[in-house]
Amino acid sequence: HVSKVSKLLLLPGDGIGIEIMTEAEKLLQFINANTELNLELSSALVGGAAYDQTGTPLPEETLSLAKQADAVLLGAVGGPKWESLDISVRPEKALLRLRSELELFANLRPAIVSPELASASSLKAELVSDLDILIIRELTGGIYFGHPRGVFEEGGEKVGINTYRYSESEIRRIAHVAFKTAMTRGRQLCSVDKANVLEVTELWRDVFNQVAEEYPEVTLTHMYVDNAAMQLVRQPKQFDVVVTGNMFGDILSDIAAMLTGSIGMLPSASLDINRKGMYEPVHGSAPDIAGQNKANPLAMLLSVALMFKHSLQQPKYAELIEKAVAMTLTQGFRTADLSRQDWVGTAEMGDQVIGNLAKLL
Ligand code: NAI
Ligand code: MG
Repeated sequence: HVSKVSKLLLLPGDGIGIEIMTEAEKLLQFINANTELNLELSSALVGGAAYDQTGTPLPEETLSLAKQADAVLLGAVGGPKWESLDISVRPEKALLRLRSELELFANLRPAIVSPELASASSLKAELVSDLDILIIRELTGGIYFGHPRGVFEEGGEKVGINTYRYSESEIRRIAHVAFKTAMTRGRQLCSVDKANVLEVTELWRDVFNQVAEEYPEVTLTHMYVDNAAMQLVRQPKQFDVVVTGNMFGDILSDIAAMLTGSIGMLPSASLDINRKGMYEPVHGSAPDIAGQNKANPLAMLLSVALMFKHSLQQPKYAELIEKAVAMTLTQGFRTADLSRQDWVGTAEMGDQVIGNLAKLL
């Protein structure tokens, strides 16, 4: 049978974004040619590459293609070449604008450690070997966006103000993403807050408890953020899905990232209310190794897997890609970030993953 067309927009960006997106595109074309899936790929400029050609890091054409797409894949943007530009046209500005224009309020960051790579972590290998946790961060609300904000004069001195604000509906929608995601995994959801001190997170906790009644199969627990930071380092495998607000999530997701010890392996997903989303590696454009065929493409390829799971509703292909990546690591293939010797380049790593996928299909 002919399956529905999925429109995918590829935004390589600049730096190693271009090299890793080449591997993602190879993988997608392979899947298109060898399965019943019907993927329609297009690409557009973003970041420094867009600025160089058009004078803006996010051309209107790119934004409108992104809005029409079922999913957007993003490589990476930024670098010294554009650092002296005004903040409004810096490559990184394009990402913030894309996230807000597409209303991507739910940011998902898995932290997974295969036994082969456990020694790369700064924690003892046995604490992280076979780790598989997911941090869900609310991305468009909270203290980073609340008003009033600014530096004001008050009583003869300056005061700095930011406002921590969440509405019930903002909390409810992130709660549903968290519970639904927990249903597809270990069904353990830990909501992180500071409800002993902050009224906002008291409301957060109340709304989560209400939404929990719709998901009786999921076990909901609550934890204060300071304890959560400690527990993530003490015994990270106690968690399955962790959900929290914007600022706490910013910090906890970076802790979770470092449990894995390898920035080149970490994918992310950012979803809107219809589960359309943007998928990108956690790392940046790595100007120090750009153009040298040294970048690890696995974070990008694992981001493609997340896309199949969350936006295209094809968890089978997500699992196949994840399995092909795991096989490639088991076979001993490593990019330079993971090994001092006998490392393979970006393109060969991509080829090995596709070769393994071919065996699994
Ligand atoms: P970075 O993540 O680009 O690089 C940090 C270190 O990790 C570098 O030594 C780099 O070579 C290495 N690295 C990163 N990804 C790798 C990969 N896939 N394979 C092998 N090694 C990898 O962070 P940095 O250096 O702080 O930022 C560089 C530029 O990227 C800046 O302009 C920054 O603003 C931008 N950036 C962009 C992001 C994005 O596009 N989402 C996120 C973070 C930073
Ligand atoms: Mg951060």
